[in-house]
Amino acid sequence: MQPRTASHIDRTKPQMKKSLILAAALVPALASAGPAGRLAPLPREVAVSSHAPFESGECGTCHQREDASNPGALVKPLNALCYDCHDEFKQRGGAPKAHPVAKTTCTTCHSPHNSKKPKLRL
Ligand code: HEC
Ligand code: HEC
Ligand code: HEC
Repeated sequence: MQPRTASHIDRTKPQMKKSLILAAALVPALASAGPAGRLAPLPREVAVSSHAPFESGECGTCHQREDASNPGALVKPLNALCYDCHDEFKQRGGAPKAHPVAKTTCTTCHSPHNSKKPKLRL
């Protein structure tokens, strides 16, 4: 086996180093979603409900990048992100008729991607 030497590492292109640093910086952003990836997308075959913008593969609607393998952090904080398309939930502290009052983040009760329950419920 040939040992990896410092000179090998030194040949790494500067752009590549930069993207590695960026990727490392994004890990905590995604990990902050909760223990054991509670909000992580589920395999299609186990999902009962799926969110339209997720289903159509538009990761970049909510994340920094379209790249599904590494979409990055959110483009804006919750719940502002959800209000962009569901502004009726903003009224009177976040609850249209017959919907529980959202005193907390929408992702307390809903997956932003897909779920094993109807209405993206967690
Ligand atoms: C409607 C908005 C929305 C869309 C579209 C979306 N996401 Fe997300 N995603 C979120 C939110 C909200 C979180 C939770 C982030 C947090 O709380 O820090 C999240 C978190 C994640 C996480 C981390 C989950 C965890 O708990 O470990 C992954 C992985 C992810 N998204 C992948 C994707 C991929 C891949 C796509 C596109 C196919 C996508 N997302 C599309 C809103 C979205
Ligand atoms: C880019 C627009 C967009 C954003 C941003 C968005 N949604 Fe949606 N959402 C949709 C569309 C389109 C539908 C399907 C049509 C409908 O029911 O209005 C939908 C449906 C839903 C549903 C009902 C799903 C079902 O099975 O009936 C829930 C719950 C939901 N969204 C929650 C959220 C939450 C929580 C967020 C923030 C993390 C969010 N949405 C952000 C576009 C969006
Ligand atoms: C305390 C839990 C809880 C929170 C927080 C919550 N929801 Fe819901 N949401 C529900 C439940 C339960 C349903 C299903 C009601 C039903 O089956 O008719 C629902 C249904 C929905 C639907 C589907 C409505 C329909 O008629 O199909 C949308 C869209 C939605 N929620 C958006 C949001 C948004 C946006 C937020 C954040 C502002 C949010 N929810 C916060 C519990 C919650």
